[in-house]
Amino acid sequence: MIPEHTTVAVVGGGPAGLLLARLLHLRGVDCVVLESRERAYVEQRQRAGILEQGTVDVLRAAGAGERLDREGLVHHGIELRFDRRSHRIDFPALAAGASVTVYAQTEVVKDLIDLQLAEGPPLLFGAEVVAVEGADTGRPSVRYRSDGRDRVLACEYVVGCDGFHGVVRQSVPEGGLTTYQREYPYSWLGILADVAPSCEELIYAHSPRGFALHSMRSPSVSRLYLQVPNGTDAAAWSDERIWDELDARFAVDGPWRLERGPITAKSVLPMRSFVTEPLRHGRLFLAGDAAHIVPPTGAKGLNLAAADVTVLAAAFAELHDTGSTELLDAYSDTCLRRVWRAEHFSYFMTTTLHTDPDQSPFETRLQIAQLDRIAGSPHAAAELAENYVGLPLTAPVGERAEHTD
Ligand code: FAD
Ligand code: PHB
Repeated sequence: MIPEHTTVAVVGGGPAGLLLARLLHLRGVDCVVLESRERAYVEQRQRAGILEQGTVDVLRAAGAGERLDREGLVHHGIELRFDRRSHRIDFPALAAGASVTVYAQTEVVKDLIDLQLAEGPPLLFGAEVVAVEGADTGRPSVRYRSDGRDRVLACEYVVGCDGFHGVVRQSVPEGGLTTYQREYPYSWLGILADVAPSCEELIYAHSPRGFALHSMRSPSVSRLYLQVPNGTDAAAWSDERIWDELDARFAVDGPWRLERGPITAKSVLPMRSFVTEPLRHGRLFLAGDAAHIVPPTGAKGLNLAAADVTVLAAAFAELHDTGSTELLDAYSDTCLRRVWRAEHFSYFMTTTLHTDPDQSPFETRLQIAQLDRIAGSPHAAAELAENYVGLPLTAPVGERAEHTD
C-alpha cells in the first residue's frame, strides 16, 4: 500500500536516509523513505569505504552491525608516502586508542535496506521527488512520481537526504540558505580491481606526478584512486596505463610491489567542498551530502552523513516522547560545528597531498615540509590521526576524542 501521510518524509535512500529511517523506526517515530532509483542501482553505487568508530557504533545500535563486525577490516593506522619515503600514522598511539573500519558503503546500504524491507518503515524505490511544498507551514507535503503517476505524501517534517543534486535543498526559497563552496582543479579516477591489496593499511601518496590512494574492499578486492585533470574520460585510460601510473606514484625506496589484477570498474569523480547553512528551513531539514560535501581525501562524507542523522533522529525522538523541540532547534548548530571541522580536515588533506596544475616548485616544497612535520612530530601526527578517526558523536567539537574500544 502506498502511504499518503507520515510524520517524517525522508527523501533519498542513500546511507543518510536509510540510517535515519532505521533510527526513527527504533524510537517509534513514523516515517517513509522515497528513493528515486531502483534497489540494484542504490546497492551497487561505488562510494566510500572507511567508517569511523562512531559510525560503526551507530550502525551496531541500529541493528546493522552483524555483517559489519564479521566482514569489516579494522585498521589501526594509515601510511603517508612522499619523497619516496613512507611514514605510518599509528591511530591507537596518537588518538586515544582509536581505529577505523574498512567496510564499503555498498555493504552498509545493503544491510540497511535488508533491515528496512523486513521490518519497515516503508521504503519506496523508483519514487522520484519533484517538489516539497509548505515547509513554512504546519503541513508540508512532498510531491513525487512513482509507477508513472504523480503522488503526494503529506507529513509533519521533511528531511532531504537526497544528496548533492537533490531537490529538497533546491526547494528552499531564495535567501533561505547560504552556501559556501570550493571546486578543486583536479578529479579522482577510481578503480576496483580483483587483486589482493598490496598493503595492509591505506596508503596516501604525494608524488611529483600527483596524488594516489591505495584502499581496499576485502582481502581479495583493491580500490585505488589517481589524481587526474578535471574533464578526464575514464575510458581514455587503459588498464595498463592506470597500473603504470599507480606504480610511478607509489614508488618508494625499499622493497614494495604493487600487485596488478583485472580492473572491474573505472569512474571519474570531481572534488568539491560545499556547505549549506542553516541545515533547516521551517519544517524542512537537510542531512548528509544534501547539506554538505567534502572532497574524499579525508574519508569524511559518509561519516558526516551518519553523524547528522544520529543527531536528527534523537531530536525527533525527543519531540515524539516529550513534545519538546529543543534538540530539533539545535540540530543545525550542533551538526555544523562537526561539519566545518571535517571541511577543514578534508581541505587540508586534499591540498597537502594533491598537485595543483598551477602549483609552483615553492608550493611543492611547502607540501613536503608539512608532510615532514607530520612524520617528525607526534603533535602534528596526532592532529591528523584525531581528525581521521573522527570526533566522538556526543562530545562538542573541540574536545579531545576519547575512544573506548
Ligand atoms: P547519497 O549517497 O548521495 O544518497 C542520496 C540518495 O538520494 C541517492 O540514493 C539518490 O538516488 C537519492 N535521490 C536523489 N534525488 C532524489 C529525488 N529527487 N527523489 C528521491 N530520491 C532522490 N565518505 C566517507 O566517509 N569515506 C570515504 O571513504 C568516502 N569515499 C568516497 C569515495 C567516492 C568515490 C565518493 C564519490 C564519495 C566518497 N565518500 C566517502 C562520500 C560518501 O559516499 C557520501 O558522503 C555519502 O554517499 C553521503 O550519503 P547520503 O545518503 O547523504 O547521499
Ligand atoms: C575508499 O576506500 O573508497 C576510500 C578510502 C579513503 C578515502 C577515500 C576513499 O580517503
